[in-house]
Amino acid sequence: MTDSRIQLTEEDITGIQADAIVNAANNSLLGGGGVDGAIHRVAGPELLAQCRTLGGCPTGEARITKGYNLPAAWVIHTVGPVWRGGTQREPELLARCYRNCFSLVREHGLRSVAFPAISTGVYGYPKEEAARIAIQEARRALAENENLARVLFVCFNSDTRLAYEKALTEP
Ligand code: APR
Repeated sequence: MTDSRIQLTEEDITGIQADAIVNAANNSLLGGGGVDGAIHRVAGPELLAQCRTLGGCPTGEARITKGYNLPAAWVIHTVGPVWRGGTQREPELLARCYRNCFSLVREHGLRSVAFPAISTGVYGYPKEEAARIAIQEARRALAENENLARVLFVCFNSDTRLAYEKALTEP
């Protein structure tokens, strides 16, 4: 059953009008390349200033900050696992990223959240497996949180979008 509250789009997450956008960060939370770099560039220096106060973030966990110059009011920073072949608890850690992001969404009473394809860029996680975990956790979160109205998966290239479209067709 495809839940209409789960949506896909192919664009830059920094322009998304959702209550929160998720950042695929690193353990330092002090910025980087990829989506992390884009989010910090648009949010502005106040985001980094707030991140400095957080003392980093372990892999699999999530932290929330304001969005500053972003259209989204909040940024949820999560640190995905680096893909090392699948024998270092990568699937479990990636699932924890999504669950911890959805916990912050619930704690802050947010109604919409947009995710990039966490860990599938620099961190090398296979797109199809990562998308399967993302969709599975979104379905779980939507079933558990009636206040959550929209989960948006923001793909940055067609390979990623195809991976999510495939994952959405799976039970
Ligand atoms: N909007 C949406 N998605 C984006 C954007 C953007 N502006 N820029 C990149 N992406 C996509 C990538 O194409 C990929 O599909 O986000 C996904 C995650 O890729 P990365 O940003 O490389 O994140 P990740 O693989 O989790 O690696 C995290 O990269 O940028 C550093 O500081 C970050 O060290 C951390 C590592």
